[in-house]
Amino acid sequence: MNIDKNPQKIRKMFDKISPYYDRMNNIMSFGIHNFVKKKSIEALRIKPNSMLLDICCGTGDFTKIIGKTAKVIGLDCSPEMIKLAKLKNPNKAFMLGDCTYLPFKDEEFDYVTAGFGLRNIEDRDKAIKEIFRVLKHDGKFLHLDFGKHNFGSKLFDLFIPKLAKILEKDEENYSYLINSKNNFPEPDALIEEFGECGFEYITRKDFIFGTISSQIMIKN
Ligand SMILES: C[S@@+](CC[C@H](N)C(=O)[O-])C[C@H]1O[C@@H](n2cnc3c(N)ncnc32)[C@H](O)[C@@H]1O
Repeated sequence: MNIDKNPQKIRKMFDKISPYYDRMNNIMSFGIHNFVKKKSIEALRIKPNSMLLDICCGTGDFTKIIGKTAKVIGLDCSPEMIKLAKLKNPNKAFMLGDCTYLPFKDEEFDYVTAGFGLRNIEDRDKAIKEIFRVLKHDGKFLHLDFGKHNFGSKLFDLFIPKLAKILEKDEENYSYLINSKNNFPEPDALIEEFGECGFEYITRKDFIFGTISSQIMIKN
């Protein structure tokens, strides 16, 4: 299936769903997304005083979890998401931007994180190359998203769009979520894709039998 991931369309979609984005995440995952994000960040073992870029930061969940461990910059293309991220993290830095054209010099960051973000990018290869470019040598990339297209994933397909229709009158955008999930590479294939851009694999964490998965890659 060909999914339209035109960047303007994606930005408008996330602007639109921003008021109920956190609420839907909590309901759809029974709050588990917070645990998953926390465990994924813990696996990075962030060193004090390091520089971290969180691309596709949304409402700033990763920033909140990271707290004061590192200097974090959150970047997102949706102005409405950025507004909410700033409300949730008043003293942290957020900026509007496109992760396929990162406004940073080469090798500025010790870590780059991307939670549930790359799935929405039309030119994913460009985004991965940008992540690689802005990372320092020995810098780490944490990627988190839906994982295997297994039984848990199929359960999502059945109930998420219907739930979104009832709760937020928004079946369309949550059907996009399902389609983008089912058309996104599974973790093994993604790790290969990251490898083709120069990364080396370090480790991964699978949650809910692999329905959600995070991978840590390194730029050697
Ligand atoms: C599903 S949300 C994930 C938000 C957050 N990382 C989380 O885990 O809850 C995806 C985010 O990616 C952002 N996004 C989509 N395309 C982008 C792009 N090209 N550059 C930067 N951000 C983008 C959207 O605006 C949205 O906030």
